[in-house]
Amino acid sequence: MTVPKKIPLLDLKAQLDPIREEIHDAMQKVIECGAFINGPEVREFEADIEQYLKSPFAVGVSSGTEALVLSLWALGLKAGEHVVCPAFTYYATAGAIIKAGGVPVFCDIDPKTFNMDPNRLSDILKKSKNPIKVVIAVHLYGQPAEMDSILALGREHHLYVIEDNAQSFGSQYKNQFAGTLGNCGTLSFFPGKNLGAFGDAGMVLTGDKETAQKLRAFRNQGTEPKAKYDHVYLGTNGRLDTLQAAVLKVKLKYVQGWNEKRARHAEGYRERLRDCPTDLPLVPEGNTHVYHQFVLRSRDKPRIVKYLNECGIDSRTYYPKPLHLQTCFRFLDGHLGDYPVSERASKELFAIPCYPELTESDLDYIVDKIKQVLKEKRA
Ligand SMILES: Cc1ncc(COP(=O)(O)O)c(C=O)c1O
Repeated sequence: MTVPKKIPLLDLKAQLDPIREEIHDAMQKVIECGAFINGPEVREFEADIEQYLKSPFAVGVSSGTEALVLSLWALGLKAGEHVVCPAFTYYATAGAIIKAGGVPVFCDIDPKTFNMDPNRLSDILKKSKNPIKVVIAVHLYGQPAEMDSILALGREHHLYVIEDNAQSFGSQYKNQFAGTLGNCGTLSFFPGKNLGAFGDAGMVLTGDKETAQKLRAFRNQGTEPKAKYDHVYLGTNGRLDTLQAAVLKVKLKYVQGWNEKRARHAEGYRERLRDCPTDLPLVPEGNTHVYHQFVLRSRDKPRIVKYLNECGIDSRTYYPKPLHLQTCFRFLDGHLGDYPVSERASKELFAIPCYPELTESDLDYIVDKIKQVLKEKRA
């Protein structure tokens, strides 16, 4: 019996191999210096991100989740205030709202891009009995949400907009980097992200100096730089670790090349799967996509995923259960049928490998297996 090829969804070891020495040197420097908390690499990495993403301020924090919590605090969210976010995203978007003291209000998604549907957002803002303080738009899978409409609704209804850009580092919306369009943009450097650390790490981007100052205080137990033991705000320990900053500073130099390779693989899939009965990712004009995930859609998803897994190809659903149906959010009184587009997406979407180190022969193998399983159905 022949052992099937093994193709993971992501290969972090393959990513590390060519830059191993550079990363070891950067980590060694931190270890020798001993400034593990608030070391110089934190500010250096923030400055590199400010330059790369063209963001006036970047504040390193301990994770993408904490980036959302601190952004909500910095924008003045008070206990019990309402915050809209998509029903179809990772748990952390809504979990962070609750951790920050707010109440999540779910919004359905666009059936083609899987990002927040501005028409549904408009309905919510018109009909909500409770005033909404903030909207969190999530840039899912690697491309930005429809920001012009969301920002216009934000202005019309006098609310803040946060971009949860955990998944789309380096993507652009009308020539502007995702994460730099709203009042705050949050980044996650979870190891599996397009720019990933060696542990948890995150960042907040903002164009507003006062918000940046608050974020710096909130992440550091509520203190201002000049008065270490005067806790001006009810902050937390949400700092970016120096070792993680050192790793990320090295990796940042490579991320554009990695994103370009992901986009090339995506094109390879598009050409090869052109005539197949599955929906390919749609990229609206004005967007660039960094393919954190390359996601296909089919009513026949369970059978396809099962077959791919049997052939050694890792394929998964992000996310199999929308937020309004999650056990922990039952108290928000969501029901099956409330957000039909999100519910259908969770049943039909599946990601296939699209990481930079994937080879042409991997791509051929994956496409061959997809075509095979689709043909079996028709036969
Ligand atoms: C959309 C989204 N938001 C927030 C987060 C949370 O980021 P972290 O894991 O760094 O806390 C993630 C991470 O998976 C995410 O995908």
